[in-house]
Amino acid sequence: MNSAHLDDLFAFIRFPSISTLPERAGDVAACAQWLGAKLNALGLKAEIHATGGHPIVVARNQHIAGRRTVMIYGHYDVQPVDPLAEWTSPPFEPVVRDGVIYARGSTDNKGQILAHVLGVGETLREKGDVPVNLIFLIEGEEEVGSSHLETFLAAHREELKCDIIAISDTGMIARDTPTFTYGLRGVAAMEVRLHGPATDLHSGIYGGAVANPLTALARLVATLHDAEGRVAVAGFYDDVAPLQQWERDAWARLPFGDAEILAVTGSPALFGEAGYTSVERLWARPTVEVNGIGGGFQGAGSKTVIGREAFVKLTFRLVPGQRPADIMAKVRAHLQKHCPPGVRIEIEDGHSGEPYATDPHSAFGKAARRALARTFPGRETALIREGGSIPIVNTFKKILGAETLLLGLALPDCRAHAPDENFPIENFEAGIRLNRTLLEELAR
Ligand code: BES
Ligand code: ZN
Repeated sequence: MNSAHLDDLFAFIRFPSISTLPERAGDVAACAQWLGAKLNALGLKAEIHATGGHPIVVARNQHIAGRRTVMIYGHYDVQPVDPLAEWTSPPFEPVVRDGVIYARGSTDNKGQILAHVLGVGETLREKGDVPVNLIFLIEGEEEVGSSHLETFLAAHREELKCDIIAISDTGMIARDTPTFTYGLRGVAAMEVRLHGPATDLHSGIYGGAVANPLTALARLVATLHDAEGRVAVAGFYDDVAPLQQWERDAWARLPFGDAEILAVTGSPALFGEAGYTSVERLWARPTVEVNGIGGGFQGAGSKTVIGREAFVKLTFRLVPGQRPADIMAKVRAHLQKHCPPGVRIEIEDGHSGEPYATDPHSAFGKAARRALARTFPGRETALIREGGSIPIVNTFKKILGAETLLLGLALPDCRAHAPDENFPIENFEAGIRLNRTLLEELAR
């Protein structure tokens, strides 16, 4: 590994650019500045655009009429690091153990986007230019729903016009296995609060005579699924596009299935909607997930209290055919209908993004697959959909009219969003190679 590249990645990672935490806004902004300076130093022209939220970094080479315009999108923001005690080494002090870089953001997305940046840097150094009109668009709000990027795209539609967009922010199904992702689930978020008594109560003095919001919430959350793991919200599956038989056949042959999922997750057993394999449940079926639940006493020991309110943070993963607003309305109706007596329910809609599907056999899709094949010689490229979401890809299509190619470098055990997030140096190197082959193939 070129040690300067690793130094660059480490410097990038050391910014604790956690977009969701207000107290980290300064770190997020400093990270954007560093990135802009890096892009300039490599010979591109970078701009840092202030938004109502975190800055957006845009960089380009000198555009020449008649060449393809390629946008490479990524994000420099990261997810929170808690539970901090479960990290083997501090999340923002990157270290290499056995050829693997451990740090928050190493995979998602700093390692992957910086591989493209450095790949362009290498080509510029060797050849003076890349073979396309290039636009880097690197934002700081992906992990919180990209709320300011849409306005930005609309305002800068002309300068950001491009023929195709490439993103490395998805996964590889296994080590050394080039992977082209042609579909992503969408997402919609919602927070539900159940309000009980005006204040916390002594659970001996009042317990039994007032509804406990935590008990009510547990009952309510339990109504969201049936015992077989199917979502029990009326109409939830109405618009779900059915899996194609070729997908079921192809996915069954992939070197990624129950055994790998069990090993990577460390779950005691797999569980999910009847009638589908685990991979089908992940990539082609919608879900309702509880991401956080709370209320009452959370400290060590015991406290005899009835908490005045309880909350649950929900997200829904959506598949082609489903629309976020429709699903939110259906879940809202379900929650209102099933809310136990004695509490007041409050529902707040959060961010959302539509599911994405593109044609892996389009001319650009084929170019991307050739680039992957050249990056991993002798290895067959897997064609997959994935369960995660990158909401902005639909906005790209809507506002810029461009399709997105998803060429991810994250491994199944990368621990994105979790303690000990990691990225193998070999994937970082592959990303640098991929940038060159990709721009060459897209230029053709
Ligand atoms: N890189 C992920 C998305 C991803 C991960 C796609 C794995 C496919 C496979 C991205 O950074 C992410 O985590 N997105 C969020 C979006 C949400 C906060 C709106 C997600 O999927 O939870
Ligand atoms: Zn992420």
